[in-house]
Amino acid sequence: MKKSRIGVLTGGGDCAGLNPALKWVVKTAMDERLEEERGTRYEVLGIRDGWKGLVNVEPDSPDIQGYIVPLNPDVVRTWDRYGGTFLGTSRLSPYDPKNDCSKRVIENIERLGLEAVVAIGGDGTLAITTRLSKEGVNVVGIPKTIDKDLPETDYTLGFETALNVIIEEVDRLRTTAGSHKRIFVVETMGRTAGWLALEGGESCGAYIILIPECDFSMDRVNELVTEGRRAGTRYEIIVVAEGAKPTGGTEFVKREGVDSFGHKALGGVGEFVANEIEKGTKLDTRSVVLSHLQRGGAPCAYDRRMGRYFGIAAVDLVVRKNFGRMVCVKSGRVTACPLENIYGRLNLVDVATQYDADRYNGRRTILNNITKALTQRGKKG
Ligand code: F6P
Repeated sequence: MKKSRIGVLTGGGDCAGLNPALKWVVKTAMDERLEEERGTRYEVLGIRDGWKGLVNVEPDSPDIQGYIVPLNPDVVRTWDRYGGTFLGTSRLSPYDPKNDCSKRVIENIERLGLEAVVAIGGDGTLAITTRLSKEGVNVVGIPKTIDKDLPETDYTLGFETALNVIIEEVDRLRTTAGSHKRIFVVETMGRTAGWLALEGGESCGAYIILIPECDFSMDRVNELVTEGRRAGTRYEIIVVAEGAKPTGGTEFVKREGVDSFGHKALGGVGEFVANEIEKGTKLDTRSVVLSHLQRGGAPCAYDRRMGRYFGIAAVDLVVRKNFGRMVCVKSGRVTACPLENIYGRLNLVDVATQYDADRYNGRRTILNNITKALTQRGKKG
């Protein structure tokens, strides 16, 4: 029987859903019942701390456990119940222009005898995966990020669990907000994509949702808040994405500079909005930053299930030697797309069809595209 070895790693920010995906990569690759049909017996090596593990490992040294961990179905048996990643992760990019160590990664993949590498990550990790693929390395990607900003897939692991955190925390805030007649501004993650804020806000019934794809006016926010109070509301929940910004302003950052993936450290818009509301309306306002709570905790049912399907599909690609692809889900069907289709692109909220830019909230029509209808009516008249 032919033997083959595959490596698996998790890169970028952790989230719920990584461990389920790891479990199912291992279980599927090492399923003895499938060996005959495949004509191959697979072995799986877990690579610790994302690409950093492949940069730092010395394959011939007897002491490689710090970077490489042999996995098998027994080791990963319970992993799908847990958040985070048992392999560890990092934001080290081997293509960092300040310290390009991509050659070393390619060399180490060869020295470790890996036929393929399955990389589970977001835009940064998968951009690296795409570049390695262009250099001839056999790779397969699995999409994960609570930001849900990867194109070509309707889902990225971690998103639904993060939404559950948002609704849970907002439910808590509601009781204290109502008791004190306060406004609460809740800042979510999401980088330049508004999905977490939008779908989190929709799920928890937020009064106002501010997203990066649509710059907001503080006057309009205050007008909406005042209108709510006049109509008799006791409190308001406002969900704001960390990447949202006022018209004419710039993104709020926690610190200057970018990480090895070229990402800014966003944060602070929630506090800004809360201060401006208090100034403009004289209403008692507080802000809460949900921050990394959104990435923590056990995966929800959907992340366990999608982690499983993505893990299985990734191994299917390896078995078929269909490399250079990312598994994805489109219209409910798990499938795969070329990695180059996602390179340098982001999936952002389409304001025209998915957002109400007047009331800063989710759309109020789903089956009827009113804007389109109005334009058509205008043309006829
Ligand atoms: O991309 C995932 C994400 O959680 C973003 O929403 C957020 O801006 C960023 O990572 C935070 O990164 P770090 O873990 O480096 O603080």
